[in-house]
Amino acid sequence: MAQGSLRATWRDMDCHSHAGYLVKLVESTEGAAVKVFVAGATGAIGNRLVPRLVAAGHQVVGMTRTESKQAALCDLGASPVVADALDPDQVADAVGKAQPDVIVHQLTAIAAIDTRHFDRAFALTNRLRTQGTDHLLSAGRAVGVRRFVAQSYTSWPYARTGGLVKSEQDPLDPTPAREMRESLAAIRHLEAAVTGADWTEGIVLRYGALYGPGTSMSAGGEQFEMIRKRKFPLVGNAAGVWSFVHIADAADATVGAVEHGERGIYNVVDDDPAPVADWLPALAKKLGAPKPWRVPRFVGRLFAGEAGAVMMTEVRGASNAKAKRELGWQPEHPSWREGFAA
Ligand SMILES: NC(=O)c1ccc[n+]([C@@H]2O[C@H](COP(=O)([O-])OP(=O)(O)OC[C@H]3O[C@@H](n4cnc5c(N)ncnc54)[C@H](OP(=O)(O)O)[C@@H]3O)[C@@H](O)[C@H]2O)c1
Repeated sequence: MAQGSLRATWRDMDCHSHAGYLVKLVESTEGAAVKVFVAGATGAIGNRLVPRLVAAGHQVVGMTRTESKQAALCDLGASPVVADALDPDQVADAVGKAQPDVIVHQLTAIAAIDTRHFDRAFALTNRLRTQGTDHLLSAGRAVGVRRFVAQSYTSWPYARTGGLVKSEQDPLDPTPAREMRESLAAIRHLEAAVTGADWTEGIVLRYGALYGPGTSMSAGGEQFEMIRKRKFPLVGNAAGVWSFVHIADAADATVGAVEHGERGIYNVVDDDPAPVADWLPALAKKLGAPKPWRVPRFVGRLFAGEAGAVMMTEVRGASNAKAKRELGWQPEHPSWREGFAA
């Protein structure tokens, strides 16, 4: 961001045409419409969330770091604001000007995941989950937001003991792999800060492994390509249970959390948690890829680190019962078995 624009900057840009559209929609859903500030509005979830919120009648302010992405936000129906989530003044300024009723935190910076150096790969995301969360909460408190919805994750954060499918009450991992400790601490920080904010309705959404257009699990995406090239082997007993969620379903659940639900944590996953031994060969077949290699755990650990081995052999799936019950949400893709092809 240029010198002299240390405060969050607003741009009308080409959004004028959208302004009337927004007003019309807001008027048409009398009483239910709220103003939603989406941090991470340009991201994989954000760019599906914004149009859904607009279509539901809400007014949306979308935050990005990147001046050049403002036009895309206008096209989605949001008013863009440029601010760096790691700068508390910029965040306070952006939220202060927007005066939202609800904040949605979808900030991540997940580069290609090197499971051997898991915490290093998640370092920036961890800052967004700690400092970024704190800045948004403090800015939200200053304007009195009624609801604060934040992205978290299922899978490796859950304890790797007991049942194979976890509910929100189940404990997180007390002894994470060494290279995942900082990332789990960041998740714990975000979840405690959001649900502990007694001045607002703090809602944490633990998404499953996202798949679908624009994610790494889609045609041309990193993980699909690894499977195609036979670089994603079955490790050890391949008993790690994965819960997936289609990106469109994750966005729908997030609209649900803007409109419904109470302070607390919700797993946002499909109906079909499955061990790696089940979903990986099925997905390889669907992609027309050769059968995945099978390697012993120690070989998997050698190439993917302890974090990689844990994800292939020990992680747990999650139940979506609470989200379905309380967020008025049903996944349109209840199983990855059909969803991967969608
Ligand atoms: N549950 C899951 O499986 C899960 C969760 C998250 C991501 N992913 C995967 O990871 C892939 C890559 O995700 P990603 O995290 O790199 O990007 P992303 O989902 O494309 O978006 C990250 C968002 O955070 C914003 N952001 C990041 N740092 C910021 C900062 N300092 N200040 C303001 N905004 C900031 C970005 O804004 P600008 O870039 O516009 O500035 C963008 O809107 C996704 O496509 C998805 O497949 C999976």
